[in-house]
Amino acid sequence: MPLISLRNVTKSFPPARRGGSPVVAIDNVSLDIEPGEIYGVIGYSGAGKSTLVRLINALETTTSGEIVVDGQQVTGVPDRQLRKLRLDIGMIFQQFNLFNAKTVWNNVAYPLRIAGRSREDIEARVSELLEFVGLSDKASNYPEQLSGGQKQRVGIARALATSPKILLADEATSALDPETTHEVLGLLRRVNRELGITIVVITHEMDVVQSLATRVAVMDGGRIVEQGDVFDVFSNPQQAPSQRFVSTVVRGVPSPDEVAVLQERHSGRIVTFSFRDGDSSQASVFLDLAGAGIEFELIYGGINDIRGRAFGHLTLALVGPAPAIDSVLDAMRTRINVKELA
Ligand SMILES: Nc1ncnc2c1ncn2[C@@H]1O[C@H](COP(=O)(O)OP(=O)(O)O)[C@@H](O)[C@H]1O
Ligand SMILES: [Mg+2]
Repeated sequence: MPLISLRNVTKSFPPARRGGSPVVAIDNVSLDIEPGEIYGVIGYSGAGKSTLVRLINALETTTSGEIVVDGQQVTGVPDRQLRKLRLDIGMIFQQFNLFNAKTVWNNVAYPLRIAGRSREDIEARVSELLEFVGLSDKASNYPEQLSGGQKQRVGIARALATSPKILLADEATSALDPETTHEVLGLLRRVNRELGITIVVITHEMDVVQSLATRVAVMDGGRIVEQGDVFDVFSNPQQAPSQRFVSTVVRGVPSPDEVAVLQERHSGRIVTFSFRDGDSSQASVFLDLAGAGIEFELIYGGINDIRGRAFGHLTLALVGPAPAIDSVLDAMRTRINVKELA
């Protein structure tokens, strides 16, 4: 049974101006997140990602549709029941949202005090959490004395205080430099593996999804336009928004600008062949082209690795009679992905 399940969820906000039309932030979204996975949600600013997480932890109510978290109905239940639900869900944010007037220790202790835990419980839990995130020596520091990465580690410790089953991370690394991002992503991976916590990662950065998530949903205009295993979406994105995101991190696919340069420099038809592990070998492409008497030149390419599975793209310039090229490309299309760029 999924841990988080959304069925035909829609959320619209009232029009910004009188007589305007309502803002549909989430448009008929269905989604299942399994226990123990790291699920990525990627989309540009305004796609509806933050609204989606706010619906999951019931900070917003749905306009229509159904949300179930850990077997518990989220939609249309009394507030008293939601407080219990929120103990099951921790959340971290882009701007960390720490209490600046509280020490690191007191930031992490805060949710435990709210939950009415005993002093001994709080002592034990906070020191365990600070140990886990590697900040035991910063317990009496204030947030302003910490680096961005350290602040987010406090945020993570605080989010985990009540031992939630789910951690929602909304752009949790977007304010961090690449090195600190890497360190925080490593910590999130440990949260998932060592504590078994299911993580939903909301981001506009595709490399975050690539290095962390097992599955991904691509959002655009409030809708999920594509979802699946990270390897599948990265190696063979189907929809235009997914293709744009994938092109920001995947090696071997020329951008439109690069295609224009390739076209200027090379005569012939420019075709990209995409391979995934398990596909027939790249050699067969060269053999088939040579066998059909087509001249070819390798002009662009790259190999990618996602958790030990490889995929890659090779772009060739082909010169030969059009019908011969068409027929050999058609034959290849039954085995591998072939895309004519120009
Ligand atoms: N409380 C709100 N009131 C009105 N419109 C909102 C509200 N929250 C979000 N929106 C609108 O919903 C859309 C999606 O916003 P959001 O979920 O924040 O996207 P993202 O997190 O992907 O950037 C945007 O058009 C935004 O302006
Ligand atoms: Mg957002």
